[in-house]
Amino acid sequence: MRQWLSVLNGVQRAAVSSRRRSSCARSGLSPCGHPALIVGSSRELVQRLGSQVEVRTGFITEEEEGALLRELEPGLKKKRYEFDHWDDAIHGYRETERVTWGAACEEVLSRVRSVAFPEGGPLLGPVHVLDLDKTGYIKPHIDSVKFCGSTIAGLNLLSDSIMRLVKEDAANEWLELLLPRRSLYILRDQARFNFTHEILKDEESVFNGQRVPRLRRISVICRNLPG
Ligand code: OGA
Ligand code: MN
Repeated sequence: MRQWLSVLNGVQRAAVSSRRRSSCARSGLSPCGHPALIVGSSRELVQRLGSQVEVRTGFITEEEEGALLRELEPGLKKKRYEFDHWDDAIHGYRETERVTWGAACEEVLSRVRSVAFPEGGPLLGPVHVLDLDKTGYIKPHIDSVKFCGSTIAGLNLLSDSIMRLVKEDAANEWLELLLPRRSLYILRDQARFNFTHEILKDEESVFNGQRVPRLRRISVICRNLPG
């Protein structure tokens, strides 16, 4: 296994029941009338955890997405998707990490860092790139507390997707985030430490009653170091 999976050692799987989640406690519309990007098991949970979970739609432009893909595709294409490690937290993926980027990509990443992390705090140097096949998905896990700190920020490329958070010790407390293509999501503090996160497979990809086709998806993930 490559180095990056070390981040996923210490993975604590939640016993997530597969029963259909009751649709949502919210109307599906946020107070300002935009379709909600975050729904959950209760209004209280959405409000309480909401400050530790952000989804920013249209965080990057189509051109910026193109620049990231041009930089990443040649390396990714040399690898094969991994399907057969049944114990892994991730199924149907290939991945890489990158320290140095071209100017256009560096510009995007510094924007990610400036909105997601406190200024001057220590960041994990390499950026993690995870390419999920159309049939790939990420099972519930918590990133290792040994290797990364309180904040995880990810760009969502090529496909819309749904991230589910489930409270580690209370599977009835959950949030689902709609991550539109070219959005940025940020998980902080409790949302990062006390909830598992997962990316739903295509067959299960339904948000607030709406089907969200999950195609091939690439995420570009920045993390900070443990404090
Ligand atoms: C991970 C992970 C989320 C994503 O690699 O630990 O949870 O958006 N990735 O790909
Ligand atoms: Mn993770």
